[in-house]
Amino acid sequence: MSGHEVGLDGGERATFRPSGPLRGSLTPPADKSISHRAAIIGAMADGPTRVTNFLDSDDTRSTLAAVARLGAMVNPEPLNGMPDEFVIEGVGPTGPRSFDRIDVGNAGTLMRLLPGWLAGVEGGLWRMDGDASIRQRPVDRIARPLAEMGAQIEVTDGRFPPIRIDGTSLEGIAYELPVASAQVKSCILLAGLGANGPTTVIEPVATRDHTEVMLAAAGADIVREPGRVTLNPGPTLSLDEVEVPSDISSAAFFLVAGSIVKGSEVVIDRCGVNPTRTGIIDILRRMGADIEVEPQTGAEGEPIARITVRPSPLTGTRVDGAEIPLAIDELPLLALAACFASGETVIADAEELKAKESDRIAVVVDALSGFGAEIEALEDGMRIIGSGGIRGGDVDSHGDHRIAMLGAIAGIASEQGVTVENMDAAAVSYPAFQQDLKRLVVPVQSDSPLAASSSPTQSSIICHFS
Ligand code: S3P
Repeated sequence: MSGHEVGLDGGERATFRPSGPLRGSLTPPADKSISHRAAIIGAMADGPTRVTNFLDSDDTRSTLAAVARLGAMVNPEPLNGMPDEFVIEGVGPTGPRSFDRIDVGNAGTLMRLLPGWLAGVEGGLWRMDGDASIRQRPVDRIARPLAEMGAQIEVTDGRFPPIRIDGTSLEGIAYELPVASAQVKSCILLAGLGANGPTTVIEPVATRDHTEVMLAAAGADIVREPGRVTLNPGPTLSLDEVEVPSDISSAAFFLVAGSIVKGSEVVIDRCGVNPTRTGIIDILRRMGADIEVEPQTGAEGEPIARITVRPSPLTGTRVDGAEIPLAIDELPLLALAACFASGETVIADAEELKAKESDRIAVVVDALSGFGAEIEALEDGMRIIGSGGIRGGDVDSHGDHRIAMLGAIAGIASEQGVTVENMDAAAVSYPAFQQDLKRLVVPVQSDSPLAASSSPTQSSIICHFS
């Protein structure tokens, strides 16, 4: 393998060599969760919604394509890259056209939110399906409460996509979530908009609340109390304008890289810091990370901040209970950070990791142990004994975007580098990830003290080959 970059042109395998520090500032891509919601709630609204900074990624393109299939007009259409802003002409709550095959691609959020809307549209018929990974992700968790509301929804083998929805009138329910899931909560709330009578969702532990924030902004009659949210049907939705903040789940790769790669200083600008998403910051800080958060002014409803991270010695911690949903997508990265810490880290109460784009307990444990880490899988999480670093090795992303990017960060922080198979999965949420990483990595000069203290195999070059 040469020490030269050989291209970023769609190679599926990429090698990330040990790097110099990461320095500079970064505005991560727009928030995936909020982008999905802007497209769906914008399509449900009566009238236009102006959306700025919508995420241009495989997942969110699936959602825009889906709402266009339902009849919502997107102007200008995102043909060659996402426009900086566009307008969605909503079809109104009862306006979606029937469509026989809505393709959600890899987007679990689309698969679980959209049926909430469609189930209550009388006379409509929709079938939804996606890629091989989507076909292994449970949708009985939404089918069950929707059926309780009176929905006619068929899932495959009682549990999986493809699904068929025959729209019919729905009744409001009170539903206690058996798993902490913002997607299930959101699905029920969207169904509640068109139901007869109020709908209440009771959450044992708080999950991300972007749906509640956006529905309130759109004029829905939504009452939020600790541990429960009630939606009274009635008002028409009018969203006007949504400015999507940067995604803390994408920023998280650089929060961890900046914490573990010596000499780094990364400034992350205009990052969404909704308190239901900032578990990664709280947990890293508890481990000893040096992270500053300065609030910035931005869109109403969703707070944003400038975040600065510098390396600092980390110690192990325990992550469990109510903290899990606040960092659910960042738990693999926290496991990586734990390898660089001293002492034991336990992640528990996180069985949900098995139902993500891959089984993120099995895949993370397999990857990190392959990199030389002392890590074991638990029934509901993992246990890591940190030793201050990792050797490196190979990992297959299994088509899971967050595992692909985890491999990249592991590689630059490792002793020998990491080769990631199926690196292109990163495009699901962060198509420009490799470019951003390359831009921040400072080349190690051969005459610099950093280079002198580096091992002979070290290089700041990220090498790609397919
Ligand atoms: C999401 C909720 C979470 C998260 C997913 C996005 C959302 O899933 O893991 O990436 O946008 O509502 P669950 O609701 O299944 O926990």
